[in-house]
Amino acid sequence: MISKQMSDTLNKHMNLELYSAHLYLAMSSCTNELGLKGASNWFFVQYREEMIHFMKFYSYLTDQGVVISLLASEAVPNQYSSLLDMVQKTLVHEQLITSCINELIEQAVREKDHATQIFLQWFVTEQIEEENNDRDLIAKLKLVGNNGHGILMIDGEMGQRVFVAPIGSPLAV
Ligand code: FEO
Repeated sequence: MISKQMSDTLNKHMNLELYSAHLYLAMSSCTNELGLKGASNWFFVQYREEMIHFMKFYSYLTDQGVVISLLASEAVPNQYSSLLDMVQKTLVHEQLITSCINELIEQAVREKDHATQIFLQWFVTEQIEEENNDRDLIAKLKLVGNNGHGILMIDGEMGQRVFVAPIGSPLAV
């Protein structure tokens, strides 16, 4: 049993996860165009993770008997001044997602909705990792500055990132 208010806010957040997927898919395309194939891979893996996040909300809501509403997706930016600019904007976006997850939990606590609180716990942990990944990359990119060799080394590291579907994930896109 889930309240209408709770399912509406979860549905809204589900759409934000889809926006996140689009945001990172566009970044993957931008970095590919710049010749940064490793960064393009990194953002593509991020896109796939966001699709998993989206599908987790989708499955939770449908399991609760909710008919989901897909909202019109906002256009995502596709102009950035540098890889550092992109990753800094990624961190700002992830901080927004973290605060949204926290607000969802606060609502679930107010409503004594234990199932939704448990469901959201996975995202609390996930957001720590998401923000930490971005901070690590920002620190490295600041260290190398405009040094092309340094950027290519970081690009090589970003190319090592592999998508791993979480256990029991509803969809491996
Ligand atoms: Fe789905 Fe990057 O938060």
